Amino acid sequence: MRKPILILGACGQIGTELTYELRSIFGGENIIASDIREGNESLMQAGPFELLDATNYEAIEDVIMHYEVEEVYLMAAMLSATAEKFPMRAWNLNMNSLFNVLNLAKEGKIEKIFWPSSIAVFGPNTPKESTPQSTLMEPSTVYGISKQSGERWCEYYFKKFGVDVRSVRYPGLISWKTMPGGGTTDYAVEIYHAAINSGFYKCFLKEDTKLPMMYMDDAVKATISLMLSPRKNIKTHASYNLGSMSFSPQEIAASIQKHIPEFEISYSPDFRQQIADSWPKSIDDSQARQDWNWSPEFDLKKTTATMLSNLRRKVRE
Ligand code: SER
Repeated sequence: MRKPILILGACGQIGTELTYELRSIFGGENIIASDIREGNESLMQAGPFELLDATNYEAIEDVIMHYEVEEVYLMAAMLSATAEKFPMRAWNLNMNSLFNVLNLAKEGKIEKIFWPSSIAVFGPNTPKESTPQSTLMEPSTVYGISKQSGERWCEYYFKKFGVDVRSVRYPGLISWKTMPGGGTTDYAVEIYHAAINSGFYKCFLKEDTKLPMMYMDDAVKATISLMLSPRKNIKTHASYNLGSMSFSPQEIAASIQKHIPEFEISYSPDFRQQIADSWPKSIDDSQARQDWNWSPEFDLKKTTATMLSNLRRKVRE
């Protein structure tokens, strides 16, 4: 029988769907969901749940010992837009939570860690198209600086202490089950809700701001398949580039208008425009494809059809 997995930040946008999927693969009782707040009913009821602050080492250690946890997925973080408003809180949450799990692994209390990085590790001087796995980074946001530092620490703990930590650089993630919170790519989720609810969306990025994006099912699939890959296949313990689709606000609006012709969009860029302008437009993920057979299934057309049909159904329920 496999030993339990602990998810820190299980009630967030990624954590929620990761918890559902891991429970469906390994059984509800083997997946311990945790967060600083309670999540939705289906998440709370389908397996164990613990109220847990990812910056509290002793509290995490207690849960790990209690359930005999073997793997931790650390999904708690403050995202790019919020982090610009609260730089010190973002740094403390994003870094201390990572050190907690890295040190628990170093002390032999857990065997394996998943920690997400982001396209935010790249900066204004990074090549924008097909951004390579290894390239000039120089992130210019609080969030990006924390993620790049985190990558360096992950590699350090792997090389120095043999800690099996694995990571991907998520692009903007699109899902209908849980809302994102405080990111620059959040517009790509809000726009679908607006299309269903009001038929109109005021976008906080300019019409031609192209960013790398991914449908949540692909992101969850990538995460689990990276974690299930044999250790010898993992060539970087810093973080893998992960690509899928890239589009601008006007392109996502056009794809929605194929389903809802009367849908309207206007543009009113705010401080998030500068964050978006510092990030890549598209990602070269050939190393992930080569090392652990990564390949995405959702393009913009399929994403739009899936988002609209599920949000419509949710509104009717
Ligand atoms: N979706 C994240 C953000 O916008 C990027 O990793 O902050």
